[in-house]
Amino acid sequence: MQLFIDTAEIDEIKSLNITGLIDGVTTNPSLIAKSGKNIINTIEEICNEVSGPVSAEVTATDFDNMILEGKKLSSIAKNVAIKVPLTFDGLRACKVFSDDGIMVNVTLCFSAAQALLAAKAGATFISPFIGRLDDIGADGMNLISEITEIYDIHGYDTKVLAASIRSVQDIVDSAKLGADVATVPPKFLKSMYNHPLTDKGLSDFLSDWKKTGQSIL
Ligand code: E4P
Repeated sequence: MQLFIDTAEIDEIKSLNITGLIDGVTTNPSLIAKSGKNIINTIEEICNEVSGPVSAEVTATDFDNMILEGKKLSSIAKNVAIKVPLTFDGLRACKVFSDDGIMVNVTLCFSAAQALLAAKAGATFISPFIGRLDDIGADGMNLISEITEIYDIHGYDTKVLAASIRSVQDIVDSAKLGADVATVPPKFLKSMYNHPLTDKGLSDFLSDWKKTGQSIL
């Protein structure tokens, strides 16, 4: 399973990218706004840091302007994936970009029917928003399950990108259900490697080791 990082903060991206475990980055207009930085410069900086797909979202809602914005974002770097919303115009734009060989991430997916259309439109990634479904009392993980089942049965290449992650368990559950990618806020990525028993075990090992008076180097 690939792990993308869900942030527009370049410093956070750099600090996690040194692990070699980051396969890509997703941004959205809210994350760009939160960063307080210019979208073009930010996407350029991120693409210089990470070689995997970097999702940059259009903000136009009509087809013609989505195409113009998408082309501009795509010209920033080869690894930009144009993010379009799962609307009628977004799906039209997705088809045009994917026919042109440009990666597309279809975002704001909340139903299996929407995901089916995105696959037919040639999306590289479909982004089901787990957390936002859970927030309204629906079952976000069930959506991941439905989409992976449909894509497997019909052999669609579109990758399932679990988005709107709210916990480490969401990442684990998405992985078990066959999601290809999870896009993870930095704080959850850090929580993934932390475990109190790892800390305690290490502390015990080191205290026993100290008693030996040995040194490996
Ligand atoms: C995905 O690409 C989105 O940027 C993101 O996962 C949305 O998450 P949120 O619901 O926490 O805003």
